Amino acid sequence: MTLTIRPARTEDAPALGRMGAALVRLHHSYDPERFMTPEEDLESGYRWWLSRELKRQGAVVLVAERDGRVVGYAYATVEARDWNALRDEHGELHDVWVDESERGSGVGAQLAEEMIRRLRAQGVPRVMLMTAAKNDAAQRLFARLGWRTTMVEMTRELKDSETD
Ligand SMILES: CC(C)(COP(=O)(O)OP(=O)(O)OC[C@H]1O[C@@H](n2cnc3c(N)ncnc32)[C@H](O)[C@@H]1OP(=O)(O)O)[C@@H](O)C(=O)NCCC(=O)NCCS
Repeated sequence: MTLTIRPARTEDAPALGRMGAALVRLHHSYDPERFMTPEEDLESGYRWWLSRELKRQGAVVLVAERDGRVVGYAYATVEARDWNALRDEHGELHDVWVDESERGSGVGAQLAEEMIRRLRAQGVPRVMLMTAAKNDAAQRLFARLGWRTTMVEMTRELKDSETD
């Protein structure tokens, strides 16, 4: 059973919508206040967004295909210098998803490594990403592939009872 990592095509849109929506729901489950509430038709929204991004220069959408079936994807963009965040131009890895039945056999690592190759070809000096504090599996994957921790995001909720 061969695994292929390739650029996403228009016909991958339904699979991208399904996986992107699953990724949003996973994050919402980690912390429902920090990670926005999934909309009703999240699949369609994500399908529309990634279908647009896969045609855009400066964005990269890859899929992992096993025997003709899409089982994972990764999405990244090239970002300009940002003085607020003190970041020079870089690649930003936004999404990596591997279907549960395919996890633990290197699909995630292959998606990430192919993404690195493609972002390097676009001339960026580094690739940055955010992972949820509770997402141990993702943190292990990215640390194993050479990412280091550089920022810690913190969130404080402003409750009505705190107003004066
Ligand atoms: C995080 C995620 C992308 C990892 O994908 P994956 O395909 O399971 O990743 P890998 O198989 O490369 O690595 C996972 C584990 O399998 C092990 N592994 C890798 N290749 C292997 C192989 N050939 N044989 C056996 N085990 C292997 C790795 O050592 C790793 O072990 P660890 O969990 O102890 O670190 C996947 O769990 C996922 O989709 N999670 C939900 C979405 C998510 O959290 N995305 C990241 C944030 S955007």
